[in-house]
Amino acid sequence: MVSEQEKIVGSCLFGAATAVIGASLLHLYWKGEPLPLGLGLGLGLPWRRFRQQRKPVRVYMDGCFDMMHYGHCNALRQARALGDQLVVGVVSDEEIIANKGPPVTPLHERMIMVKAVKWVDEVIPDAPYAITEDFMKRLFVEYQIDYIIHGDDPCVLPDGTDAYALAKKAGRYKQIKRTEGVSSTDIVGRMLLCVRERSINDSHNHSSLQRQFSHGHSPKFEDGGYAAATRVTHFLPTSRRIVQFSNGKGPGPDQRIIYIDGAFDLFHAGHVEILRVARELGDFLLVGIHNDQTISAKRGAHRPIMNLHERSLSVLACRYVDEVIIGAPWEVSKDMSHEGTVPEWDAARFRISSRQGRGATRKEVRNSQKRGKVATLSTKGQGHKKGKKDASEKGEG
Ligand code: CTP
Repeated sequence: MVSEQEKIVGSCLFGAATAVIGASLLHLYWKGEPLPLGLGLGLGLPWRRFRQQRKPVRVYMDGCFDMMHYGHCNALRQARALGDQLVVGVVSDEEIIANKGPPVTPLHERMIMVKAVKWVDEVIPDAPYAITEDFMKRLFVEYQIDYIIHGDDPCVLPDGTDAYALAKKAGRYKQIKRTEGVSSTDIVGRMLLCVRERSINDSHNHSSLQRQFSHGHSPKFEDGGYAAATRVTHFLPTSRRIVQFSNGKGPGPDQRIIYIDGAFDLFHAGHVEILRVARELGDFLLVGIHNDQTISAKRGAHRPIMNLHERSLSVLACRYVDEVIIGAPWEVSKDMSHEGTVPEWDAARFRISSRQGRGATRKEVRNSQKRGKVATLSTKGQGHKKGKKDASEKGEG
């Protein structure tokens, strides 16, 4: 026999469980997230309508994005996943100088790089380094920002205070995981080692280059300790990371595939421009990225600075790129079809050569031209300011 007391307890438990489930569903509904299967079937249409109609969640991430690398791209990818629209504030040159020393790449190049990342919806130039009261108000009112996002590394101002303290206090701060193993400082260090390696091979006077690259970015160099550092990184992405960066779509049956290959070392504004132009020539841009051995053989043992996988992630993050071949051959051959999707494809036909001068020999260009249509594109000197010589004069892709 069930006592009266047990009945009351039972009803209370049932009521509490119903309230919890109801509240959770309401919460999901409010956030516009998918409903559990059974309910989703019944409420599918109104649910979808609601998701389309609700105000998009707008998130803001700021940063210097100096010498943009795949760590920055991964931060932007994670930030975008926390909302529906990502607005990025690119910190002004003056603010960077005041807070951490002069940037290697000026604001207009950093803007090009950030705009080219496929997860970015809007860009605000000349953003402040720290979230001030006024700027936070502007973000909330003018830009309709819901959350301010930064990596989980501390961002401390010269006076020791937290650059995101106000956003945290307002309960509008969210954090993403910083990508290990890459930073602008580390890249400058690698460039210094590259200069040193090159100077061992030829008697090139590298002291002026050292001065250019120093910029207070590389304590290793100033300590004289850089000789002990290693330029070669063993970074290897997991298949999950490659999937996260990929579009996950192949070309459609009638799409015109454009192929462009190159090293894409130290991915910069010139690369972005050439990829944009290449993409405009067709419907699907396939980018071949040469492996490290090929680059070393063609450009010298001191290159590349970023390894094949790092270069591949930077290229994949670019909005103009549909797919990459990781470790593409130097010479495009007839049997190089795109995963069998274009069996008749004469690869050279739609090939764009971004290599010029010392990059590709005249004979190579002539041979490619004989085989089909080759457009030779130039980066028009848009490389990193300090790496300009390597990037554009050599015509490196
Ligand atoms: N970021 C990251 N992983 C990295 C480098 C940066 O997630 N390896 C994130 C930062 O946490 C920040 C955003 O990218 O949210 C922009 O970083 P930025 O202001 O450019 O500066 P740093 O953090 O100093 O990056 P770096 O050291 O590479 O210059």
